[in-house]
Amino acid sequence: MTGAPVDSVTTDAWGELTELAATSSPDLRAWFADDPGRVERLTLDAADLRVDLSKNLVDETVLAALLALADQAGVAARRDAMLAGEHVNATEDRAVLHTALRLPADAQLEVDGQDVVADVHEVLERVYDFARSVRSGEWTGVTGRRIATVVNIGIGGSDLGPVMAYEALAPYRQDGLECRFISNIDPTDAAMTLEGLDPETTLFIVSSKTFGTLETLTNARLCRTWLLDGLGADVDEADAVRRHFVAVSTALDKVADFGIDPANAFGFWDWVGGRYSMDSAIGTSLAVAIGPERFAELLAGMHAMDEHFRSAPAERNVPLLMGLLNIWYVNFLGAETHAVLPYAQLLHRFPAYLQQLTMESNGKGVRWDGTPVSTDTGEVFWGEPGTNGQHAFYQLIHQGTRLVPADFIAFANPAFPLRDGDTDVHELFLANFFAQTKALAFGRTADEVRAEGVDEELVSARTFLGNRPTTSVMAPALTPSVLGQLVALYEHITFVQGVVWGIDSFDQWGVELGKQLAQQVGPAVSGDDEALAEQDASTRSLIAYYREQRR
Ligand code: F6P
Repeated sequence: MTGAPVDSVTTDAWGELTELAATSSPDLRAWFADDPGRVERLTLDAADLRVDLSKNLVDETVLAALLALADQAGVAARRDAMLAGEHVNATEDRAVLHTALRLPADAQLEVDGQDVVADVHEVLERVYDFARSVRSGEWTGVTGRRIATVVNIGIGGSDLGPVMAYEALAPYRQDGLECRFISNIDPTDAAMTLEGLDPETTLFIVSSKTFGTLETLTNARLCRTWLLDGLGADVDEADAVRRHFVAVSTALDKVADFGIDPANAFGFWDWVGGRYSMDSAIGTSLAVAIGPERFAELLAGMHAMDEHFRSAPAERNVPLLMGLLNIWYVNFLGAETHAVLPYAQLLHRFPAYLQQLTMESNGKGVRWDGTPVSTDTGEVFWGEPGTNGQHAFYQLIHQGTRLVPADFIAFANPAFPLRDGDTDVHELFLANFFAQTKALAFGRTADEVRAEGVDEELVSARTFLGNRPTTSVMAPALTPSVLGQLVALYEHITFVQGVVWGIDSFDQWGVELGKQLAQQVGPAVSGDDEALAEQDASTRSLIAYYREQRR
């Protein structure tokens, strides 16, 4: 399955879409008026998610051409290859099996001679036992006190997923047990995160797929020093590390070198990409926070979405259609960015999580056989929770000159029900969610503005063109299962786009250069004049400034 990708640009469907983009003029007002069946036809269910695609800039002809493109690009065949454990991560010659992390225990999947399901569930049970012992107080620190704070040390995929889910599932956390997260090598991050913590009741989880990431290992050493200093000289160092440090990694030998007891290490496998790993042992901090039962619900939600992606017919397949809509906007209508706007404060880290998922996956300029791509790839994903975004950047989406497709996400029930007298505040909040997609789709015509009595010279400034595409995603409530469904939905959207572009969505070679250069520049920063002389003029001058200013 690592042969040459189809060059989508050469397919008939691509030609047809190019033609359609040049000749059709989307008109959501007219489409809604003329086609009473549009909303019903374009409203789909995937697990517990209700997804309304009707406010997108597509008619039946465009949709059919997009589905033909998926067909001609071989999306379904590559999806099946991925799910079966073929090495679809071509540049690293690896299987891509994050979907196996949420298979039920009685599922069958053997990959490269290994019973993957048995491996996954063996580790899951260990993570669950650990989570239970921390939650019950059975696991104590070296001085015998129960753990009050779990600090996850990790970066990228070893941080963004757990922290996003910890925030999203706040109502499910156990009282008296807090999680904190350290990711940045900026020492301020560790200093602020450790502020106010008691070493006796703090447990660290060092999360790193490779256990070789400079930021994470540096922070782990910093935390070890903080712990040992805080516990004082009476405590045996090895005992302290054993009781206060656990690790999650695919490189268990390196974990032992750090001094962490291999019995306190949870493994995973090279077929789980970092940004696809929050449902592996990388989610241990989350499992501690919400407990094994809730964590299992998250996995079940992901699996439900995987099943939908695997088996729903193409014209009802939500990840497939959302991925194809993104292709339409990026490659045919010129969109460069995509907004994700959760109307749920608890999803405030969801856009940041999606940035790594989508942009590390699809920010590529060559295809999986090494040939250059022949069209634009990965758009910039960004967002903020509504209604904060409304009062910041929505102006540009409503009336700017750029096309910004946006996903709006909301829940029928609030996380924390609060009333202000007779006012249901959640209802007020959701009124904004409904109103925004309506305004973006249908705008306000000059005549409608005039009819409000607006002075003629202000009419154009107050006219909204509409036809700003949105997808609305709703669910009954932000439960662990629904969160899992949302995460898996975006994983599969990302996959669909990657296949159409013919790129390997599972490597990240672009990140490696920065890591290598940081090592190379390090000596120059710490005063090695020879190393400084080897730098380019700009870097030399910036380092010189730093050295002058540093006290
Ligand atoms: O940012 C690059 C990256 O390689 C990500 O893909 C990964 O999630 C992150 O670094 C952390 O890597 P690790 O889990 O190996 O420490």
